[in-house]
Amino acid sequence: MLVESHRPEEGPAPRASERAFDLHGIRFVYGRRQVALDGIDLRIERGEQVALLGANGSGKSTLLKLLDGIVGPTGGTMRAMGRDVTAVAAGQDAFRFHREVGLVFQDPDIQLFSATVRDDVAFGPLQLGLPLEEVRAAVDAALAQMEITHLADRAPFELSGGEKKRAAIASVLSLGPDVLLLDEPTAALDPRTKWVLVNLIRRLGEGGKTLVTATHELDIVPIIAKRVVVLGEDRRVLADGPTDAILADRDLLIRANLIHEHLHEHGAVRHAHAHDVEHHDDGEPMAELPGRTHPDGDHPGVGQQGEHGGHGERAARPEPLPPAGVGDHDYPEAFE
Ligand SMILES: Nc1ncnc2c1ncn2[C@@H]1O[C@H](COP(=O)(O)OP(=O)(O)OP(=O)(O)O)[C@@H](O)[C@H]1O
Ligand SMILES: [Mg+2]
Repeated sequence: MLVESHRPEEGPAPRASERAFDLHGIRFVYGRRQVALDGIDLRIERGEQVALLGANGSGKSTLLKLLDGIVGPTGGTMRAMGRDVTAVAAGQDAFRFHREVGLVFQDPDIQLFSATVRDDVAFGPLQLGLPLEEVRAAVDAALAQMEITHLADRAPFELSGGEKKRAAIASVLSLGPDVLLLDEPTAALDPRTKWVLVNLIRRLGEGGKTLVTATHELDIVPIIAKRVVVLGEDRRVLADGPTDAILADRDLLIRANLIHEHLHEHGAVRHAHAHDVEHHDDGEPMAELPGRTHPDGDHPGVGQQGEHGGHGERAARPEPLPPAGVGDHDYPEAFE
């Protein structure tokens, strides 16, 4: 989140040895009635890259706002970067905190409000009162990291969706945060733009940033996260583990509503299967192959998630596959 006001530094300096996030029994209720989170226990170490998965309304965005100290919890205890989040949300040491933790909202229009991209990216460092030379250096570095130097003098509202996302991330990166919280960074992007952004996010993680990325797109998860936390529809952590193990657990993914089961009828035979499993004519599921159309002809083949609600069904295989021709979680030069 960008800095809202210039606050004096307050309180004792946080201990750098403390883990990035430590949540115990966190509950969050909107307006006294709408329970968004109901007993979240979660620990995230500095330098980890975590994907946050969950069905619509499971509380991902709410959890990111709590991690960013925009709001404090309704119940439970929560520390972030060595600070009590309730105190940060009340304004204590918030200025310093937001230099360390930045949230990129799903909607880039919330983050971009200046006349040019450069002004938006400079906003945070200027709020910090840094000398102009340092502001310039921070802005140039953030623009270069997101590969949008050529867009610096454009008006944000004129940019494409993908360009806006990169500008929004740059506007947070210019503060030099150790922790980046990303809310559905690749939603509504075309495939090429999506994989360019995924690659940029991957590099931020390789550079040592702590990343927490909420997403519905399972195929990006192995690239941007080594660990996955799944929020269940009961608004608690349903699963937490290594990316490969979580994505290979089809039952879990169905239970969390991250892939869905289809009920099929083949004459008298009625059965259910996960959405990205293909069929023999005898109704037996067969191996999943990317890009093939469903022989039943009743829904598009795997890899067409964009037309199918964007829930990433194609990635629910033990070894999630990046785009064709791309090997071992790396990308062809065209994507670099
Ligand atoms: N401003 C708000 N006021 C009241 N209820 C809210 C508000 N924002 C979210 N909620 C509710 O809190 C719950 C969690 O919402 P949240 O946006 O955190 O879910 P999410 O996992 O990010 O969903 P999505 O995948 O659709 O982005 C939902 O039931 C939602 O209706
Ligand atoms: Mg959300």
